[in-house]
Amino acid sequence: MSVDQRPPVTMEMIVALAKRRGFIFPGSDIYGGLANTWDFGPLGSEIKRNIRNAWWQFFVHQRADIVGIDGGILLHSKVWEASGHLNEFFDPLIDCRNCRARYRADNLVEDRLDRPAEGFSLEELDAILKEANLACPACGHREWTNVRQFNLMFQTHLGPLEESGTEVYLRPETAQNIFVNYKNVTQTTRVKVPFGIAQIGKAFRNEITPGNFIFRVLELEQMEIEYFIREQDWETTFEHWLNAKADFYRWIGLRPDRLRTREHEQDELSHYSKRTVDFEYEFPFGWKELSGLAYRTDFDLRQHQEHSGVDLTYYDQSNDERFLPHVIEPAIGVERLLLTLLLDAYHEEDVTDVNDKPYVRTVLRLHPRIAPFKVAVLPLSRKPELTGRAMEIVRELRTEMAVEYDETQSIGRRYRRQDEIGTPFCVTIDFDTLEDNAVTVRDRDTMVQDRIAIAELGDVLRERLAR
Ligand code: GAP
Repeated sequence: MSVDQRPPVTMEMIVALAKRRGFIFPGSDIYGGLANTWDFGPLGSEIKRNIRNAWWQFFVHQRADIVGIDGGILLHSKVWEASGHLNEFFDPLIDCRNCRARYRADNLVEDRLDRPAEGFSLEELDAILKEANLACPACGHREWTNVRQFNLMFQTHLGPLEESGTEVYLRPETAQNIFVNYKNVTQTTRVKVPFGIAQIGKAFRNEITPGNFIFRVLELEQMEIEYFIREQDWETTFEHWLNAKADFYRWIGLRPDRLRTREHEQDELSHYSKRTVDFEYEFPFGWKELSGLAYRTDFDLRQHQEHSGVDLTYYDQSNDERFLPHVIEPAIGVERLLLTLLLDAYHEEDVTDVNDKPYVRTVLRLHPRIAPFKVAVLPLSRKPELTGRAMEIVRELRTEMAVEYDETQSIGRRYRRQDEIGTPFCVTIDFDTLEDNAVTVRDRDTMVQDRIAIAELGDVLRERLAR
């Protein structure tokens, strides 16, 4: 067999595979879809679960200094007043007066005028766009509204009436649950500064920018840690987290050559941050933010202390010292990480089969930690003596890993299907199995096949999956 790598992966290839194989479907599909919303199918939901589990294992279970919480999506409106999101969490928008198409003004400046837009005021963006006399990308007219601010938080109402005073917001970041529970956690656990609180959960942003598939979504899942420290330790802790994040990306198989870090300029820092470094990934549409690391100072705890009137200082018994901790925050979205993992894993290869017949093999080289199924069990035919033996193996393996069972179509087609969904190993049961109590184990990446005794199968798979 020969193998040749084909040209680079495009978004179209990923979107097509995601729909074809049941990873990701457009949201509300049978009604024509709802912009920037997506549903995760049988395989996508498995990968998301694997991403969450890997992150939780790496940052919570494998460390002694981080505990988790699971907070609500609806929080008291005063939380968003204190956090600054009611006053600061805005995008600059502009509308075409002719066709009413709506754009983010900073994106128009960056993408259409090829000029930097970070840190500019509404008036400055307005002036740049007016001076350039930009045509609307949708209709070509040149009549625009002024640039104005648009809050990204989704609003709803508590109770049946939409009255003033009943407004609540779906959280735009999971971080705030952590700050408002910080005192509960310090009082109910044995954590001592430095320590972290981790959370995985949904967040909602009323984004109007085109999404690039699941890169930018309205309903996202964040994995965030607020790591509480003494102020003087912030620089060393920041370095620690830059390394820890890079280690995690390696651990789940992300390609290091498609990752880089980018320091935020002073004028692009969020309202709460004194230093932010993004991990950027080289997407088919350019280098873009994958995740962020921010030094939030004591901004949030101080704000919540002032707005709630509750003392949020930390008492260090050993030094008889009381202070408001500072915070380093690593934050990433599950969907965005999933997209990078799919892009890294996707390969189309020109191969020839055992009969020298050429075909294009699509293979997802996902890390076993992330792959939806770890192994597929495939009886060579539907004869009961083979399927019965195969099901015994399936039952045994299912006690410890996600297993796919498939008895339809030719074995070649079944291998291709498993390659496409990223299953690291296929186990084939044939007529020799009934005589020698052994099976064929096929490796997804090398396509090499070994004969393994059934008695050793569990150990062999466990060892190969952990490599
Ligand atoms: N608590 C800090 C915070 O929310 P952020 O940079 O706005 O910071 C953190 O978001 C991460 O969440 C991003 O790096 C990205 O991975 C993900 N994210 C943010 N907005 C997103 C969106 N609309 N769609 C998908 N992922 C998003």
